[in-house]
Amino acid sequence: MRLDPGVQDLAGERPQVDGAATQRRLSGKVAVVTGSSRGIGKAIARALAAEGASMAVHYCKGREHADQLAAEFERGGSRVGVFHADVARPEDCHRLLEQAAKQLGSVDILVNNAGINRDRSIRKMSASEWDEVIHTNLDSVFHCTKAVLEPMIGRGWGRIINIASIIGQTGAFGQANYAAAKAGVIAFTKSVAQEVAKFGVTVNAICPGFVDTDMVASMPQAAKEAVKGRIPLGRFGEADEVARLVRFLCTEGDWITGAQLNINGGQYM
Ligand SMILES: NC(=O)c1ccc[n+]([C@@H]2O[C@H](COP(=O)([O-])OP(=O)(O)OC[C@H]3O[C@@H](n4cnc5c(N)ncnc54)[C@H](OP(=O)(O)O)[C@@H]3O)[C@@H](O)[C@H]2O)c1
Repeated sequence: MRLDPGVQDLAGERPQVDGAATQRRLSGKVAVVTGSSRGIGKAIARALAAEGASMAVHYCKGREHADQLAAEFERGGSRVGVFHADVARPEDCHRLLEQAAKQLGSVDILVNNAGINRDRSIRKMSASEWDEVIHTNLDSVFHCTKAVLEPMIGRGWGRIINIASIIGQTGAFGQANYAAAKAGVIAFTKSVAQEVAKFGVTVNAICPGFVDTDMVASMPQAAKEAVKGRIPLGRFGEADEVARLVRFLCTEGDWITGAQLNINGGQYM
């Protein structure tokens, strides 16, 4: 019997909740994961639910996926709510966090994960492609953080985890909008971390490399192989691997704040 089951073991139809093998270190905590209908956000939500957190599952277009995930959590005995918001809209961000707090209780853990890419070289990129990515990937992090910060400070405990990207560290051809947003997220993380550390709130950025989700599914096969050739560990990451890092920050990361944590197979060191 494994004493600390990995997220993959917990990612099935029914999260494992019984027995000594399962630790529930986030019981009593309320977690909001933006963009938890799919991909990395869904894996993060599963990891936090498996630790006993009450979960706010959030979606924009994928209502069906969000409902399915919520039903899975309910079957596992978790408290869960499903919330819609277009995080590109500030008023939606505030409404999301207000509704989650009203339904589940004050938010202890915020994972700013929702994101998009609209890749095009700068010579062809439209202002709306720039705006859409900045609003969704960067402005949302500000608005969602603002909406949870004062209650976290009041309770003297909070975990804010921002899903940035290797592209925010290196830049990339055709991704000026995405790279600028993610670099902004990293700098935002370091600034806010300095401001709120004394109140027991930690703020960290995770910088994944290429992770096997819908976001990279549309890449041409040849481009994928070229990228893999530049990854020392020789493969794309799995969403569960990013989720395990989020879980670690929430359960054991008490002395980690302002960090940009690389999880990229060694692609950027
Ligand atoms: N995959 C990678 O290789 C990779 C690498 C580095 C960083 N990241 C970052 O990791 C995060 C998750 O990426 P992913 O690969 O899991 O992407 P994904 O599979 O495309 O999923 C994106 C998620 O974001 C939500 N979302 C998109 N636009 C939204 C909006 N306007 N309002 C609210 N929610 C919105 C989607 O919700 P609906 O489906 O409900 O609309 C979905 O749940 C993103 O921030 C991304 O930039 C990904």
